[in-house]
Amino acid sequence: MDATHMGQDIEKVLLTDAQIQERLAELGVEVWEYYRDKDVLLVGVLKGAVMVMADFMRHLPGSVPMDWMAVSSYGSGTKSSGVVRILKDLDTDITDRHVLIVEDVIDSGLTLSWIRSNLESRSPASVEIFSLLRKPEAAKVEIESRWVGFDIPDEFVVGYGLDYDERYRNLRDVVTLAPHVYS
Ligand code: PRP
Repeated sequence: MDATHMGQDIEKVLLTDAQIQERLAELGVEVWEYYRDKDVLLVGVLKGAVMVMADFMRHLPGSVPMDWMAVSSYGSGTKSSGVVRILKDLDTDITDRHVLIVEDVIDSGLTLSWIRSNLESRSPASVEIFSLLRKPEAAKVEIESRWVGFDIPDEFVVGYGLDYDERYRNLRDVVTLAPHVYS
């Protein structure tokens, strides 16, 4: 679906599918160059990162492996707490591997901060972060993300993998929801 299928539920379009694809292509070149002499493993965090992983990895001009983690954040409603439980761990042993975590959004930063330290404790060669979106005003911890697609305002956004109550993940664009949807 795209923004035209949202009827009254949409407030505004923040990023169109075309803008997202253009940025992913640009970053794909940078990332490929950065890992030129290294084997990199892409690690996606379910479920939000599904779309960005699928599109980003296809913009890379060569073959890369991927793996997935699923975590649950003990947060209330739309806020994460930083207390994380692993629901699905990696299938891959990342000892001495170059790991690139692929995320849809860095909000408070708590989830990624936890995931990064968890992966770093497994003796990888390196751990870097790629996030399509980042909300600088929402940061509770500082996260060094080597690649960020777009900095966006601290607003509740859905689409391109991001959900409200599991809805709108399949929206091609990133949009803000009209308040009547969640109030
Ligand atoms: C979202 C997103 C990040 C996290 C960011 O996941 O995919 O993992 O929240 O928030 P933070 O920076 O405040 O920790 P969510 O827990 O909503 O799960 P989902 O990916 O299945 O939608």
